[in-house]
Amino acid sequence: MHDPAVAFRRAFASEPDGVWAAPGRINLIGEHTDYNDGFALPIALPHTLTVAAARRSDGRVRMRSREFPDTFEARTADLSPGTVPGWAAYPAGALWALAEEGYGIGGMDLLVESSVPAGAGLSTSAAVCCATVLAATGLYPPGTDPAGVARLAQRAENAFVGMPCGIMDQSAVMLATEGHALSLDCRSLETGQVPFDPSAHGLALLVVDTRAPRRLVEGAYAERRRSCEEAARALGVRALRDVTVEELPRALDTLTDPVTRRRLRHVVTENARVLETAALFRAGRPREAGPLFTASHVSLRDDFEVSVPEVDTAVEAALASGALGARITGGGFGGCVVALVDAELARDCGEAVRAAFGERGYTAPAVFAAPPSSGARRLA
Ligand code: GLA
Repeated sequence: MHDPAVAFRRAFASEPDGVWAAPGRINLIGEHTDYNDGFALPIALPHTLTVAAARRSDGRVRMRSREFPDTFEARTADLSPGTVPGWAAYPAGALWALAEEGYGIGGMDLLVESSVPAGAGLSTSAAVCCATVLAATGLYPPGTDPAGVARLAQRAENAFVGMPCGIMDQSAVMLATEGHALSLDCRSLETGQVPFDPSAHGLALLVVDTRAPRRLVEGAYAERRRSCEEAARALGVRALRDVTVEELPRALDTLTDPVTRRRLRHVVTENARVLETAALFRAGRPREAGPLFTASHVSLRDDFEVSVPEVDTAVEAALASGALGARITGGGFGGCVVALVDAELARDCGEAVRAAFGERGYTAPAVFAAPPSSGARRLA
């Protein structure tokens, strides 16, 4: 088995003081709701990213990654937004966020390795930020609780990398547990563990990494977020979370711009679908969540307009082969589809998606099962 400590020794010719792991995540439902103070229901993936780290006494930080050839090196005190290019901006941002909040973090060597498929919308960025906060506070205690780590990691992405993401990814990475989905209220930051063990119900959760080139991701994400904020202002509410399904028809009448109306309709109906899905899981009826997954996809495709043809093809092929429900997951504009399938149909479903991609000449997708797994932890 691959050992991050061995890889660290090879990279830095010294021993690591510790190894930390953070998983990728799949959001089951509740998309583009987090920055609207709404609800989400993610799980952690079995795939993890590790950070092996050792203290340095000279106040310098050196970062290497198995996935990228370039090494980044600087004084920790010199890290500031806009100064760190490429992949290293994420771990550097995590160290910067800690310094901004008064954590006394000294120098260190960091080796990042990942088995989370990159660029697929599975939150490698949240994983690397969270694992770096854990490593840095592990080397230089005291640390903070998992929700505090999530918040610091979000700050790194928002203020250092410049991605205006919500708190869903980081919360999943830090707080998800095996055999559960994480119910998340993005206003109160209250979380709950909702039992979700697909195999115990004869089900499988399939992830299709469409490998579609992710287009326009950051600009379009920021633009969606702005529309939601404008809608909230126009409706006189703090966030779109404050509009209920019952109030939706009147709220839609209040807005004049058709695009803003569609964005509003997605967020309000999506929040309701999250609560319904969590209730079905709690009642031990996860199969019945399938149609909610599919309704979420339709809403993200038509009202929030974040899907792409490859993603729609994967959803349609999965449903045609008997999936109970399927939807785009993550920020969109490419990325992954998540499907809830009868375990015995899982293989056929994967084959059907591959065949549909072949017919259209798309790059072959990667299909894998995603049992709900553990959040971030120290490995050694
Ligand atoms: C990205 C962001 C999250 C969330 C999702 C959409 O993953 O990082 O904060 O907004 O998109 O649900």
